[in-house]
Amino acid sequence: MDAPPLYVAIPLLPRARDLIARRRRARFSEGEERLSTDEIIRLARGAREVMISGRNRFDAAALRALPASVEVLATYSVGFDHIDLAAAADRGIAVLNTPDVLTDAVAETAMLLCLGAARRATESIMLLRDNRWSGWSPTQLPGLQITGRRMGIYGMGRIGRCIARRAAAFEMPVHYHGRRRLDAVLEGSAIYHADEADFLSCCDVLVLACAAAPETELFLNAERIARLPRDAIVVNIARGSIVDDDALVTALGAGEIFAAGLDVFNNEPDLDPRYLKLPNAFLLPHVGSSTIEARLQMAAILIDGLESLEAGLKPDNLLTPHNTEACRNR
Ligand code: DGY
Repeated sequence: MDAPPLYVAIPLLPRARDLIARRRRARFSEGEERLSTDEIIRLARGAREVMISGRNRFDAAALRALPASVEVLATYSVGFDHIDLAAAADRGIAVLNTPDVLTDAVAETAMLLCLGAARRATESIMLLRDNRWSGWSPTQLPGLQITGRRMGIYGMGRIGRCIARRAAAFEMPVHYHGRRRLDAVLEGSAIYHADEADFLSCCDVLVLACAAAPETELFLNAERIARLPRDAIVVNIARGSIVDDDALVTALGAGEIFAAGLDVFNNEPDLDPRYLKLPNAFLLPHVGSSTIEARLQMAAILIDGLESLEAGLKPDNLLTPHNTEACRNR
């Protein structure tokens, strides 16, 4: 029999692996080990399709080095900042990602980060775990109530809008800023600010939900932090590259903002160690989309995409060659 068309280069939950194995002839990488891009290139020999994740950087050189047999890269992520799409298109490699299916999971994580930061969850957990809790006290760890506070969302794509719907349950008026105003249906009751400074001044809770792109790199710098209201909370569920770590660490340390809830970092997994020392930083290890439901659906949508491509169709989650701008709308 021919070699299986699909090489899965990432560790998967057993149920996601079973789902893939039921629907497609596949060869799976063994164990929990993270393969380097070079190892994936070597092991992809003979495969037509390769499943990777956001941890595997495929720049132009890596794409050129892929075996000639490879026609599709299926990334187990909605973000695609790790792949040079133009270079993939030049090489005739189709790229698939996982939009929609992880939107709810990531939006839930955004609310968790928001609440964890506002309610001083890091300090509370440490108090218990360090055995320092002396019992209930009216002065113990007062946090901020998020009900009624204004949420500012930078990046009102699918995930941003899903967060906005959750914010409504906390009676939080939602403000947003971006290059373009959304149409009325997508906008809902959110308030658009064409002016960035105006937007920042409304962000009691600033949620970074934009795609990583050259124009969003280091968006949250010292100048923009200074425009946030006193006691602001910053939430990042997008990418570390959107934040200037020096500026955010300084603002958190100096109490210029109340707290931050961060799920993503520059240089993962080696995040800036200064965050770990800040009691007002509520930190998660990039688990935004990590629910069993999302992980299964991520596998399914990639297999759907591979089947569509095989049938000569253009699946909605095809990023190349035509679909990059639409897919930036995460
Ligand atoms: C995504 O899907 O982009 C997650 O952040 C994992 O990379």
